[in-house]
Amino acid sequence: MAMNGKKEVIHREGMEEKLKKIDLMLPPPETEPDRQYYFMRKLREQVSAMKKELGRPLTANITTFGCQMNARDSEKILGIMRYVGYEESDSQEADFVLYNTCTVRENANLKVYGRLGQLKTAKRKNPNMVVALCGCMMQEEEVVEKIKKSYRNVDIIFGTHNIFKLAELLFRKLSDCEGNAKMLIDIWEGTTEIVEDLPNERKYKFKGGVNIMFGCNNFCSYCIVPYVRGRERSREPEDIIAEITDMVNDGVIEVMLLGQNVNSYGKNLKHPVTFAQLLERVEQIEGLKRIRFMTSHPKDLSDELIAVMGRSRKICKQLHLPLQSGSSRLLKIMNRHYTKEDYLLLVDKIRRAVPDISLTTDIIVGFPGETEEDFADTMDVVERVGYDSAFTFIYSKRTGTPAAQMENQVPEEIVKKRFDQLLAAVQDISARKTREKTGSVQEVLVEEKNKQDSSLVTGRTSQNYVVHFPGDASFIGKIVPVRLEESKGFYFIGSRVEQAR
Ligand code: 5AD
Ligand code: SF4
Repeated sequence: MAMNGKKEVIHREGMEEKLKKIDLMLPPPETEPDRQYYFMRKLREQVSAMKKELGRPLTANITTFGCQMNARDSEKILGIMRYVGYEESDSQEADFVLYNTCTVRENANLKVYGRLGQLKTAKRKNPNMVVALCGCMMQEEEVVEKIKKSYRNVDIIFGTHNIFKLAELLFRKLSDCEGNAKMLIDIWEGTTEIVEDLPNERKYKFKGGVNIMFGCNNFCSYCIVPYVRGRERSREPEDIIAEITDMVNDGVIEVMLLGQNVNSYGKNLKHPVTFAQLLERVEQIEGLKRIRFMTSHPKDLSDELIAVMGRSRKICKQLHLPLQSGSSRLLKIMNRHYTKEDYLLLVDKIRRAVPDISLTTDIIVGFPGETEEDFADTMDVVERVGYDSAFTFIYSKRTGTPAAQMENQVPEEIVKKRFDQLLAAVQDISARKTREKTGSVQEVLVEEKNKQDSSLVTGRTSQNYVVHFPGDASFIGKIVPVRLEESKGFYFIGSRVEQAR
């Protein structure tokens, strides 16, 4: 039901219907999404002819680095690849090998270069192989220059703004109109365009991610994301609701709403909507049972949102709230717009509204100029908040960000010592948290059969804890009450409690 009490009926034309309407005898349409549909159909014909000629299926291998946004983009890419006729494969010798890259820290880049080096041999073994690169790293000019010079085995490069170009680029590559050796590069910068209606694909039948916004306007001084993902732009609430409704009709019971900073959702829309208002609309979708979201910036987490979280029956009891540093002095230099005290007060407020919420965070160690006192403040917040888990990162200098210009970089051995100290504290606290939960009964959404022990299934609680318990494939996709019998650090062994939901 819609908020005004009227039943919300959103009819959307299926992808197949739209694709069929495209006339392949005409030149490619100029506007999206029709242009990508045109090339998807052209490519499908091409792939079908290639399969006949080779007498075997064509395979695609996609490797994803980085965050949930990249994971979601990779699902969309797989959707396009499946539609045009490729089969997914684990092999690095597949006919189409794609790396969806991350550049948030330097080591993410190094991993990609390492993989590209290894691919040289694989490509010799499979001369039909097409190698493609996309994602945040490709939005950096010097990366593309380096690839052009040193990794001639790459065939296609596209960026974070134009995934929908994939079919067109691959069609051009395979139809060989520009010569086989040519590297096709299509990177967009500064666009505000959002192309709706990409073919949708998801890893699990019963849960999936939905982008609610793209880009980031925050310019935290260490972070490269605003430069590679562009300015913040929100999708229209109607498009989001329609997508989730379609997913629910297709068997989804849990959604993860995705954005770099979901708390500032809707500000740039013609008719602005707050994130809390969007959540209330998502909550109304019949059949949907669980809602998660990430990432929340502490500076934009409103009282309105806390109130919605407090009264919601569907929003999971989990909040990812990046701290980055516990030092108010450093937070200022990081351009985070909150202090240590603001953060702690916010945590108190959230815990009052949702007492059993699980809190997770991101913390950077070794930001330029970090003193012992700054680090002690970080440790203090970690102890006081008691995170269920925390991602800890060593500061990585990213060219083009303000922090990269700062001269007072912290010596490596000091950073390493602080990092180890922080990690030990974080692990101690999460072990304590899991021990405290032992014996409780939690609702677990079962995701899959356990990979090591086939008598077990694996799922997640509302607080996002992983639980393994005895069960069979019939549990997959269902929410089951489970007693957490034993804590094993980051996960639990449980047993099913007989009661229907
Ligand atoms: N160095 C280390 N960690 C970083 N992050 C972002 N930029 C950097 C950097 N330059 C971390 C932040 C962010 C997470 C996704 O990555 O903690 O929340
Ligand atoms: Fe990077 Fe800050 Fe934006 Fe997060 S909020 S993506 S850390 S600039």
